[in-house]
Amino acid sequence: MKIRLLLVTLFTALFAAGCGKTDTAASTASADTSAPAAPAKAAEQPKAGARTIEITANDQMKFSVTAIEAKVGEELKVVLTNAGQLPKEAMGHNWVLLKPGTDVAAFAAAAAAAGPAKEYIPDAQKDQVVAHTALLGPRKSDEITFKVTAAGDYPFICSFPGHFVAMKGTLTVK
Ligand code: CO
Repeated sequence: MKIRLLLVTLFTALFAAGCGKTDTAASTASADTSAPAAPAKAAEQPKAGARTIEITANDQMKFSVTAIEAKVGEELKVVLTNAGQLPKEAMGHNWVLLKPGTDVAAFAAAAAAAGPAKEYIPDAQKDQVVAHTALLGPRKSDEITFKVTAAGDYPFICSFPGHFVAMKGTLTVK
């Protein structure tokens, strides 16, 4: 029995080697060549893991985090949680990261004009937005993952009407 099994194995091996141009053999070959490349792939792994920053917003119109520091090229995952109880229409919160140098007051005015249907993200000023979460009602969370590619001071706000005065902070990228 053992010999027969060995022969079958040998035959299979010979068959595979003999038919080097079949799809099966080709895929086996490509799988083999990709094996040595695995360490290179593994070296890229840390990049894939975004650093998580948890931020809560509340009925007192406060962000729990107002200063964030990051390195150029770093990937960040901002998780925003509305820990409040007031309805979304009265006390909704989002987290909007703006490009360095953005006129925050002007953006906030445009956001208010855009209204709830746009979740206070104005179409005409979207090029000033680096990243933003959804507008959240009480006990809701949303997350956004993005990469900061240039150094600078990036303002972030809640763009719900009137909130940016109190709900603001800065992401400093060096
Ligand atoms: Co808010």
